[in-house]
Amino acid sequence: MKDEITKNPLEPTQLLDRDCTTLSRHVLQQLQSFSADAQDLSALMSRIALAAKLISRRLSRAGLVEGVLGFSGDINVQGESVKRMDVYANEVFISVFKQSGLVCRLASEEMEKPYYIPENCPIGRYTLLYDPIDGSSNIDSNLNIGSIFSIRQQEGNDENGEALDLLQSGRKQLAAGYILYGPSTMLVYSIGTGVHSFTLDPSLGEFILSNQNIQVPEHGAVYSVNEGNFWQWDESIRDYIRYVHRHEGYTARYSGALVGDFHRILHEGGVFMYPGTIKKPEGKLRLLYETAPLAFLIEQAGGQASTGTQDILDVVPDQLHTRTPVIIGSKDDVALVKSFIDDRKHEKNPAIATHS
Ligand code: AHG
Ligand code: MN
Ligand code: MN
Repeated sequence: MKDEITKNPLEPTQLLDRDCTTLSRHVLQQLQSFSADAQDLSALMSRIALAAKLISRRLSRAGLVEGVLGFSGDINVQGESVKRMDVYANEVFISVFKQSGLVCRLASEEMEKPYYIPENCPIGRYTLLYDPIDGSSNIDSNLNIGSIFSIRQQEGNDENGEALDLLQSGRKQLAAGYILYGPSTMLVYSIGTGVHSFTLDPSLGEFILSNQNIQVPEHGAVYSVNEGNFWQWDESIRDYIRYVHRHEGYTARYSGALVGDFHRILHEGGVFMYPGTIKKPEGKLRLLYETAPLAFLIEQAGGQASTGTQDILDVVPDQLHTRTPVIIGSKDDVALVKSFIDDRKHEKNPAIATHS
């Protein structure tokens, strides 16, 4: 008996500290404050976690209950066919912020214009930008999908509802993150004090801290891009792809869900790209609720995010649904892609010049 006690020297309180750091507690610890702003951010994150749990629960019943899988029959503002889960997840985020007193405005991929919760506006000075379901094409195949979020302070009164204060760079984000619905459900967030990940413990209904201060490796083997678009890209992107084909140590991974591909790169290093194409010169991904939040995270993790010519976090959108090309991930790998872009700009032949 005595031996058993010495084998496990941790006091019960230490065990709790190690195993049960919940998300809301973590936010307060990060801010080292119980100020009103800190309490707001903690409450905002708790509501996002609630949305994540509701979406995760519904996804886990797909195929068992009616109305989860398949298309809704609508086309969204992006011209894309909407899935039932897109609609459900979009509404979940709205409903968790109703009567919260926190969020005055929500803007998402699925809504042409921002959605206002007027009763919150006198006190709730925050805007939530979100992609309710990222990687919608994976839903019906039971593959990984995600949600992406970003929180900004509302500036001005926005009396005519034009939300012009949102047309500012990603440096204005107070917090950003994503939820990954994979074999387990994870929430990864930053409030500008590093990147931290949590895993949903379904038996507790709580997100429990998994990893703190995640740093992306400076280089990784993975390149993640839809090579089906090869002939639609600029020649400089084709130069980069030819380079990785011809050199050892690279491997392709592309899941069709940005959140999943990004999550892998955050941990293992490498680069994710969605460059401009002939049909979509600005690429496919949207700045305010896809690329800017992930750029916020990757910079916090020591990586980089670029359009090819500009840091993503410096891009000022001209519309709510503005798209940007994106190259995001490990510093060295993003720099390598950019060097091919620079070479073409300066009309060098990269195969002969810097990269042979
Ligand atoms: P969404 O489902 O929110 O429209 O986003 C899909 C995005 C992103 O998740 C993914 O990386 C990319 O679109 C895949 O697009 P392609 O099929 O064109 O490669
Ligand atoms: Mn998306
Ligand atoms: Mn989406």
